[in-house]
Parts: sequence; C-alpha cells; structure tokens
Amino acid sequence: MGWGAMSNEENYCFDVAGYLHVRGVLTGDEVNALCQALDKSRKTKEMLGWPAPLQTPFRDLLVHPRLVWYLNQIIGHGFRLDQEPKLLCDSTCDVTAPLVGGGEPRDPARAYYFQNGRRYCQAVQAIWALADVKDGDGGFVMVPGTHKSNVETPEDIVTGRDDMGLVFQPSLEAGDLLLVAGTTLHGMRPWRGTGPQQLLSYPYAGRAALQSAGTGPKAKENSSPEWHRDISAEQSASLYRPDYQDSVPPPVVVTDGEMVELDESREVFHPSIYKLDVDSGIDHKEFYFWELTGYLVLRGVMDEVWLEEANNAIDQFQDQIVVGEELAGGSRSLAGTGRPTLGGVLELPQPYCDPFRKMVSYPLVQHRLNWMGGSGARMSGPTVFCAVQGTSGHFLHDGGEPMYPPMGYQLQSGRSYAEAVTVTWQLRDVLPDLGGFACVPGSHKAKYPSPPGVRSYDDHMGLVKQLVMKAGDVLFFADGALTHGTTAWKNPIPRRGVLIKYSSRSFHRSGGEMVHPWNRWSHHLIEGMTDAQLAVMRGTDRDARQHNVPRLEVKDGVVEVSYKRGSALYSGDAPKGPVIDKVSHS
Ligand SMILES: [Fe+2]
Repeated sequence: MGWGAMSNEENYCFDVAGYLHVRGVLTGDEVNALCQALDKSRKTKEMLGWPAPLQTPFRDLLVHPRLVWYLNQIIGHGFRLDQEPKLLCDSTCDVTAPLVGGGEPRDPARAYYFQNGRRYCQAVQAIWALADVKDGDGGFVMVPGTHKSNVETPEDIVTGRDDMGLVFQPSLEAGDLLLVAGTTLHGMRPWRGTGPQQLLSYPYAGRAALQSAGTGPKAKENSSPEWHRDISAEQSASLYRPDYQDSVPPPVVVTDGEMVELDESREVFHPSIYKLDVDSGIDHKEFYFWELTGYLVLRGVMDEVWLEEANNAIDQFQDQIVVGEELAGGSRSLAGTGRPTLGGVLELPQPYCDPFRKMVSYPLVQHRLNWMGGSGARMSGPTVFCAVQGTSGHFLHDGGEPMYPPMGYQLQSGRSYAEAVTVTWQLRDVLPDLGGFACVPGSHKAKYPSPPGVRSYDDHMGLVKQLVMKAGDVLFFADGALTHGTTAWKNPIPRRGVLIKYSSRSFHRSGGEMVHPWNRWSHHLIEGMTDAQLAVMRGTDRDARQHNVPRLEVKDGVVEVSYKRGSALYSGDAPKGPVIDKVSHS
C-alpha cells in the first residue's frame, strides 16, 4: 500500500457502503502492546490519560500514520478527536440499546458530503480490532449504506425486532482498522465469540463540526456573560457560545411565527413543509429498503396454481428456448456457457399465455412501480431466464456513476424517481451461492465508478449480494442505476425467472420509427433540409450513454454530421449515413 491517494476501490466502498475495512494496519507487537496495557490497567476508560508507559500505545494510535492518511481523505484535513477513545464491549456498551445513525433526519454536523470529487464525511468512527471477530460473534453491527439513507429508519430496524436482512456484523482480524461513517446506522449487540472482545473505538470529527463538548474545566464553565440576566431566556439562547457543556446540545427556541419559547428538552426543532403521508399506501419499511438498497423483493406474490401454470407453459415450449451469448465479460468466477432465454410468452396460444398476461398491470406490482418511478411506466415483453447448471453469470453493470439520466435514480420531496425499474418474477427457488441475480446494494447512489473487481465479481470486496428468493417472489430493481448482474448458475434445477423491463414516462429506452424526421414532421417543414439540419429534426431515440445517435460536430467552424458508430447500443432505426435521399422519397 502506497501513500498516494485512496484507490477507487476504497473510495467506492466507503461511498456506497459507509464503511471501509483496512486489513492488517497494526503489527502483532502493536496489538500486543495495546492488549498488555489494557490488562495492566484493568480499566476500560481514559486510556489517553493513564500513567506512562500505559498511555503510550493509545496516544500513538490517535495519530497512526495510516489512519491520518485515510481521515485526511475521508473527513478532510484538520480532522480532530470528538470524544475519548472507548473499549467496545458488553461491559462498556448497552447491548440492548437501539441502533443509532441514519441519514434522515439529517444531522449536518455528522453527515456525508460529496460533490465534484470532493468528500467531507463530518464524523468517522475508527475501530481498531485487538482480537479477531468472526462471523456470528456479535458485537459491533451496522447497516451499510445508511449514511446516505433519505428515509427515516423504521422502528423495527432500530430496535432489532426485524433486521430486514440489512444488519451486518463485520468479521475482523487483530490489527485491522474499520472506518465507519458517523451516520451509518450502528450499535452493539451481545458478544457471542469464544475469545475476548477487544474493539477500540476512536470517534473523529470534521474541523468545524459541532458534535460533543469537551470534558476539561473550561468546557464546564457557564458560557453566558453576566448581562444576559437582563434579557429573556430566549434572547440569551440566541446568543449562546458553541462547544461548552452547557451549549451541547444547543438551546432550542420553538416558534410558530408569533411567539418564541425555550424548549428545555433541547430536541431539534426544524419545521418542514411536508408531513409523512400515512395514507400514501406505501409501506414505510418497503420504501426505506428500496431507497437504501435500490432493490425490493415482494414475497409470495404468486400462489401455487399460478406458479404451476407458468412453469407448465414453459415446459410446453422448451424447444423455443434460445441460447444466447456468454455474458461473463472475461470474469473468472462468472464464466460458463451461453444464456438460455425464452421470449414471446405474452403471445403464446391460450391457455399458456395466461399466467404471463396476469403479470401485466398486476395490482401489487403496479402500485410499487407507481411509487418507485411515477405513473406512465411501460413494459417490455417478458423474457424468461432459463439458465441451466453451467450457464455463465452476467458481469455486473450500471451504477450511480457515471450519471445516466434515462435510467437513473433520484429521490426528491419523498418521491422515488427510478427511470428504469426491472421486475423479475421467480418461478423457482433461488438458493444461496447457486447463482442468480446479484447486485451492490446502495450502488444506485454511488458517486465513484464501480471497480473492475466488482463488475467481474472476481474481487467484489464483500459488496455484492446474491439474492435468495422463493418461487412466487417478485424482485424489483433500479435498472441502470443499481450495479447488478447474475452469478453463474450452479443449481442442477434450471433457473426460471420472468424478467420484465419498465421504462418511465420520461425517457425513450429503445428508439423506433419516430426517430425519422419524415415520420415526425410534415414534408414541407423538412423538404430541402441539409443533412445537418435533418439531424436535429429527429425524434426521440435510445440513449445508451455514448455516441449512439447521429450527431453534429464542429470542425474548424464547420458543422458536420457524424454517423460513426462505437460500441454503444443502437436502436434498429438509427441511420448509418446521410438521410437526405430518404426525405425526398418520403
Ligand atoms: Fe442489466
């Protein structure tokens, strides 16, 4: 590891998941020195003030070079310690306490900021592992991606009543460093490991971020000057000096536009023009899950009869399955044979088309499509994915960076704007580690490009999740925004997933005959136009991120039309050369 800048892999992981696991930062000797000091002192607090030499390894850790290097890039220069370091264990933490953090409501002093390649994560918890933590040991847990969550955390997640498959307990080795964004939802759970629990936490803050008060004598002073006795409590509250114990949290003056009143609870008062709409017909936990991860699974939508009809129809038309390309994209772990699919199922003879026609505008699904992307979504013809044992995976593709408006994801004023949603109806169980849909939860909000190892799945950094589903479940994902693909099919029972792509009302997904100026306009409007003029008289076409439509270029002040084709996807109607002749014939 060098001392240049964090790799794209590291930036991507922290950006998407809100944490970064750095392995082997401390040597065995450094870990031993810390453990011995803890043993000798028999205390779990105030390490920085223990008599020398017991304090030394804890003070060294405070400004460990590798930590400083990371925090300069994640928090920004001038970062500082917010609170004294703490040993995280069952005796120092309330392991029944609710999880804390999450991006909504926003806490600007702890939030994650990113713009134009610049990042300021105002709070970062540096957790040093002094002993191994294995999978299932308990202790420190978090919900990846919640540093960017825009939806209030459901009560069930906070209390642990229902972790919705989102809670993650990282496995660590002694000497590892775990950096966690301050607003990543996190907490402590009971320790179940066989060895001792030795996690050391140092909370850091941005240089100007007001978080915790100091504990020194000056911080305990009353910060208000004498003359405040002559003004009202509310007036005094407006003149508070930050960063003293009596001004953390700051005083709260509640208002209604006519009166001011001090609120002794000091709970943040921040009026909004919106209220949570409990009549929206949106399940809070579903919306939270979708907004956080970029996908959603509705369980048990299809009953046994429906499943049997659909599977039976495919059995009848097996001979029409077409084996397509191998889509592993050079990946070692996804390699295999071509992908078998069956199309045209809406047009099968009756009764075989019925179970698929029932999927069209099905109320449970249509309602989710409406809140995910707004009304006006239109669907493609279903494609049945029929992978057999040995079928290749599909390399992971798409993601929040680079931005791609026609298939992008945004959230504004409580509305999800997913311009492309793909729905897959599972006709058979999808078992763990045997292949199927896989994605990087949270990557629909990625601000760094997805790393090659994630796309190939060969080095996915633990960020890729293969979804486990049952026959009858329906998967939705933010296609084009969420980084997704398929892992190689290893199940002896072939895959049966009916994939339907929905495009929003706002963008064309495939182009068509309306791209031609002579179909879009009256003859007299375009007659005699130059090829360059005709290029801007075209109708809506597919946008595949790159130069996939005829376009104007200016060379030495002269406008030219370029029809040059790259590797991007073209619509069947995109012309390959000048179209002037076609206008005269129209
Ligand atoms: Fe895809």
